[in-house]
Amino acid sequence: MADKVLVFYGSYRADRMGIRLADYVVAGLRARGADAELVDAKAVNLPMLDRMYKEYPKGSAPAPMEALAEQIRSADAFVFVTGEYNWGPQPGLKNLTDHFLEEWFWRPAAIASYSAGRFSGVRSGTAWHSILSEMGMVVISSALAVGPISQTLDASGKPTGSAGEALERAFGRFADDLAWWSEAARVQRGRGAPPY
Ligand SMILES: Cc1cc2nc3c(=O)[nH]c(=O)nc-3n(C[C@H](O)[C@H](O)[C@H](O)COP(=O)(O)O)c2cc1C
Repeated sequence: MADKVLVFYGSYRADRMGIRLADYVVAGLRARGADAELVDAKAVNLPMLDRMYKEYPKGSAPAPMEALAEQIRSADAFVFVTGEYNWGPQPGLKNLTDHFLEEWFWRPAAIASYSAGRFSGVRSGTAWHSILSEMGMVVISSALAVGPISQTLDASGKPTGSAGEALERAFGRFADDLAWWSEAARVQRGRGAPPY
């Protein structure tokens, strides 16, 4: 059974670079047989957080929020592609994730960070680790760290040069780790409803 994996990315910049990594992750997961889909926070364009999804009376949430809630509920696993703004998470992606809570529970999540420089966004990746844990996801220990992103992936998300080769080597383990936990959580959910 193909894993349903949602790949989240949240830069709103016109000249954004991280879309290269998001596209690479989606393509790589699909090549391994997963049912992977990009969720681009800029395209979904939820408003700055006012009411969380669960605070709307049933059936009255804005259509894009309702559709995303259903996508999240029906996914087996998540990947968060994160850049770093001043050592922290990008606000567009954080805003999108904060609209939901219970919808995220009981699934594994993986973090793929990147930056313009050699630190590869790892400080933002570290912040996301605790954010995702707080939201009920189990964060896997394998992570991708990509930097400088412009020297690792070309504009179409294809790996380039020695940095691209290193990413290709890391991706296999990253995807194997996520697939293992994804299946484990699905089997466990099939054995009975989660405790809360
Ligand atoms: C507001 C802002 C803050 C940034 N802060 C950091 C930083 O703390 N560390 C870092 O490695 N790069 C930083 N950068 C550079 C980003 O890594 C680079 O612009 C990257 O392409 C941003 O992702 P995006 O293009 O997907 O928006 C910053 C960029 C912006 C626009």
